[in-house]
Amino acid sequence: MPNISEKLREAADILQISGISEPRREAASLIAFALQKDKTFLIAHPEYKLSAEEETRFREFLQRRANREPFQYITGRQEFYGLDFAVTPDVLIPRPETELIVENAIELLSDKSRFCEVGIGSGCISVAILHKVKTASAIGLDISPNALQIAEKNAKLHQVADRLQLKISDVFEVLKDEKFDLIVSNPPYIPRRDFEMLQAEVRDFEPTIALTDGKNGLSIVEKIINDTRQFLNPHCFLLMEIGFEQATEVRKMFSSKIWKSVEILPDLQNIPRMVMAQIEK
Ligand SMILES: C[S@@+](CC[C@H](N)C(=O)[O-])C[C@H]1O[C@@H](n2cnc3c(N)ncnc32)[C@H](O)[C@@H]1O
Repeated sequence: MPNISEKLREAADILQISGISEPRREAASLIAFALQKDKTFLIAHPEYKLSAEEETRFREFLQRRANREPFQYITGRQEFYGLDFAVTPDVLIPRPETELIVENAIELLSDKSRFCEVGIGSGCISVAILHKVKTASAIGLDISPNALQIAEKNAKLHQVADRLQLKISDVFEVLKDEKFDLIVSNPPYIPRRDFEMLQAEVRDFEPTIALTDGKNGLSIVEKIINDTRQFLNPHCFLLMEIGFEQATEVRKMFSSKIWKSVEILPDLQNIPRMVMAQIEK
């Protein structure tokens, strides 16, 4: 049976040929996951020989990763805002830049606030907010019933399910006369024309409906901005993630007759990524 050190070398070569950018690091993560150990075990025991069962498991994971399946779909997990989230190919893998919405939402919410998320996906945004703001409650909407099942699982995992209602909805369609203290969203904003240029991991494995509106990338963004007015309490905020180079166009979608202020905030790499708009009344 081959040992960890030999397996690492072989796996890194296979991943490199497949176009994975950090093959050695990813090979180590895959072995650690197959052995159900952390990476320090690999460093401390390079001579450890994999059992037949571990070897089979590792070979399957390596094959999947070499086919460019994201590591997170293999492990079924992704960390977001310090919490562990279950992920499957039915949901977008939570991205670090989306934490900007959570940070700002936590600042804006006060006691007993109620907020709404459009396109909840894995639930990462709403669950992280509810986990931090213990008196808040929320409604999470998504057009994908399968995504809502994952959101529910994550809400239960982090013990916020009693404060999070989940509904199938095309944007706000399912809502009646409700009003919220905050609306958050990370909508599908990638233009269809950019879709084919995405990394294989994203294009071929993440749900297309979570990535693009199939048009210019701004149709759902615009619908959210226009319809939010109906569901937001006076002087409350809309927080929404937007794509690279969309800031100018998005800003124009906010009428000064309805919105008191519109700010575009940068992510950690100084790329404008989030719009924060306050409604007049
Ligand atoms: C970019 S993902 C965001 C998921 C999650 N909130 C996050 O930040 O990781 C967009 C989500 O919007 C959902 N979605 C796409 N079109 C929608 C629509 N018309 N109405 C409601 N949800 C939609 C997708 O199913 C997906 O879960």
